[in-house]
Amino acid sequence: MANIIDGKLISMDIKNEVKEKAAKLKEKGIEPCLAVVLVGEDPASQVYVRNKKKACEYCGIKSLSYELSGDTTEEELLALIDELNNNKECNGILVQLPLPKHIDENKILLKILPEKDVDGFHPYNVGLLSIGKADLKACTPAGCIELIKRSGVDITGKNCVVVGRSNIVGKPVGMLLLSENGTVTTCHSKTNDIKFVCRQADIIVAAVGIPKFVKGDMVKEGVVVIDVGINRMENGKLCGDVDFEEVEKKASYITPVPGGVGPMTIAMLMNNCIVACCKQNNVVC
Ligand code: GUN
Repeated sequence: MANIIDGKLISMDIKNEVKEKAAKLKEKGIEPCLAVVLVGEDPASQVYVRNKKKACEYCGIKSLSYELSGDTTEEELLALIDELNNNKECNGILVQLPLPKHIDENKILLKILPEKDVDGFHPYNVGLLSIGKADLKACTPAGCIELIKRSGVDITGKNCVVVGRSNIVGKPVGMLLLSENGTVTTCHSKTNDIKFVCRQADIIVAAVGIPKFVKGDMVKEGVVVIDVGINRMENGKLCGDVDFEEVEKKASYITPVPGGVGPMTIAMLMNNCIVACCKQNNVVC
């Protein structure tokens, strides 16, 4: 029976650490501040944005909220980002994705000043991540690393297999595992004998977006499993990219879905707001 990694608990610990840092900054007369931008009325995005603003409130980070109509033009959104880039009060800018189809997401993400890019999506920050020098790391990948480390698992020297090669999770989590001295292999839809590769893993990070893709016979005894997937099943329940019932029998540590990686993304976003704020104000945190 595996140890279940409690993402809710670990994310609370991180938010409490952020809260303490925010309070210390306020003692110095500095108020950390995040701008949250939502375009359109996508219900899932509305929930995410609400949760991000609630987390700001909990941590003592000021949030500036911009809820724009779905017919906002690319030029209008670029102008808002320009204004926020120049706003000294604002330390971080988060543009909730996905954006409406008529807006070029890449163009928007490139416009955000790298030092205010608390999502860690700007190519400049992705580049820093790849050379192991990023201050602002993509939130979900950074959350995966925190879950592993705070469970007492040392990544050094371990065979780490990442299933999935997306720009927002697979690739950055691979680079972070490498920075932690893991031996990293990334699998994807064209990988030959994915089962063989996964069976070599001491640590598996599953981020393919296919429900229950990682089966019990694809892992070895004692594996540490981080499941980034969030898939809605026909019965309305959520499930991950890992077949939890099967894999849990062999794993030493495993994250559940929900309650594993999910809550970590917002906690790491809050942490990035503090990192950005400290950097911009030339203080250590
Ligand atoms: N949409 C889904 N996940 C994310 C995220 O981490 N950041 C942003 N900006 N949008 C998202």
